[in-house]
Amino acid sequence: MKPEQNPRRNFLKKAGLATAGLATGPYLMAAHGQTRPLTRLAGQAPMANDHIQLGLIGCGIQGIYDTRSALEVPGVTLTAVCDLYTGRLERATELWGEGLFLTQDYRELLARPDIDAVIVATPDHWHKRIVIDALEAGKAVYCEKPMVQQAAEGHEIIAAERKTGGILQVGSQGMSSLGNEKARELYQAGAIGEIVMLDMYNDRYSAEGAWQYPIPPDANPDTVDFDTFLGRAPKRPYDNTRFFRWRNYRDYGTGVAGDLFVHAFSTLHYILDSQGPVRALSTGGLRYWNDGRDVPDVTLTFYDFPKTDTHAAFNASFRVNFIAGGGGGGGFRMVGTEGAMEVGQRSVKLSRTALGMAPGGYSMVAQTEANQQALREQFAKQFPPNRAEQLELGETVWEAPRDYQGGHYDHFHNFFEAVRGNKKVVQDATFGLRAAGAALLANESYFKGQPVAWDPVKMRLV
Ligand SMILES: NC(=O)c1ccc[n+]([C@@H]2O[C@H](COP(=O)([O-])OP(=O)(O)OC[C@H]3O[C@@H](n4cnc5c(N)ncnc54)[C@H](O)[C@@H]3O)[C@@H](O)[C@H]2O)c1
Repeated sequence: MKPEQNPRRNFLKKAGLATAGLATGPYLMAAHGQTRPLTRLAGQAPMANDHIQLGLIGCGIQGIYDTRSALEVPGVTLTAVCDLYTGRLERATELWGEGLFLTQDYRELLARPDIDAVIVATPDHWHKRIVIDALEAGKAVYCEKPMVQQAAEGHEIIAAERKTGGILQVGSQGMSSLGNEKARELYQAGAIGEIVMLDMYNDRYSAEGAWQYPIPPDANPDTVDFDTFLGRAPKRPYDNTRFFRWRNYRDYGTGVAGDLFVHAFSTLHYILDSQGPVRALSTGGLRYWNDGRDVPDVTLTFYDFPKTDTHAAFNASFRVNFIAGGGGGGGFRMVGTEGAMEVGQRSVKLSRTALGMAPGGYSMVAQTEANQQALREQFAKQFPPNRAEQLELGETVWEAPRDYQGGHYDHFHNFFEAVRGNKKVVQDATFGLRAAGAALLANESYFKGQPVAWDPVKMRLV
């Protein structure tokens, strides 16, 4: 393809974005440093009125955040809650009142005909089993990310989704945000040219950030069904730390890959229409949180993405550090041949500068005066200055309005619209496996101590 035929090359003023068929309507590039509002102008079909009764399986931190967002969507009621620790069932009553059906056995919840949809927010090692049981029970399912603890399990979920014809939304909510949507439009309109690199990082500097969640003082074998929690994991004696800090153990969690990388993959795959990487190389270590955990607290992973119809070949760097002295923070920065984009859920910052082609003082110092003059004339002919002027250069920041409800609301809105038959989910089982499978390569490589290869089309380790 010649550069001028490639829509992601030459983000020219004269082409503008209005011609690119953008879902959020036409807008013009701003002058350097200008901030613009980020709004959703199209694609929000009015909600149907059909009432949806919801069940929550796993009433921990994310189950509660999920349920809060779900209940903001009109026409949704919480009917039942399941959890293995009685304190979480009491918390459900504190939050949502008496009258809920409460159980420690998710199968009792699934057996109820009055429940249309369920949220699965248990630890990762339980996702596959509960999701398949829920689909087979005829429930629409919102499953927290990572969809699976091991990539191979994803195919069983895809098969169940297909067999039952059921609805499954995976819960990387950031992908549904205005920020991600704007980034996709910008990328597809050529705002950064062809992607060459992605830089994702997440730094944390607190016990909570490092998954040291508080253990409730009333937790004991009478209030916690520990044997059921273990599930398919190796049997062991009662252990509060494993139950409440399950992320720290490979038997139940997925490390930073399944906790954090998977969100970035969902965003990246959505923006680029990508199926994922072909290779990963991971390193890191347990540097500080020596609390019995068996997963690293510093992880660095490099991924190779192949050239496809929707993006050039590029490399990605994913990094998480739980001992970020001096503070925390995170970033997701896409770097292309014509610009770079920092993508968030509520904002996108696009920076475009002209690529310096003419020789500068550094390399000219070794040229004779006559050759310097000749080279300048040669470069002026080759790169006429007016071409650079046509390009939209500078920095623009798009920001969501203050009252924007956020990606979590949008993700549930999309899920319930699918339940009502008005839309398709944005993160089905195949999308969920592509994101989880790519993320989990980080663990595969780290624990094997070598690079690993992945087939992103078949979604299998090579
Ligand atoms: N989308 C996001 O941004 C996001 C954020 C945090 C967590 N998560 C995901 O949500 C899930 C839950 O994470 P969390 O931080 O809420 O953990 P958590 O430990 O706070 O909550 C998990 C709950 O599940 C219950 N549970 C365990 N096994 C169960 C079973 N078999 N049946 C019923 N209940 C069971 C536990 O008692 C606990 O209350 C994980 O998969 C995690 O990756 C997603």
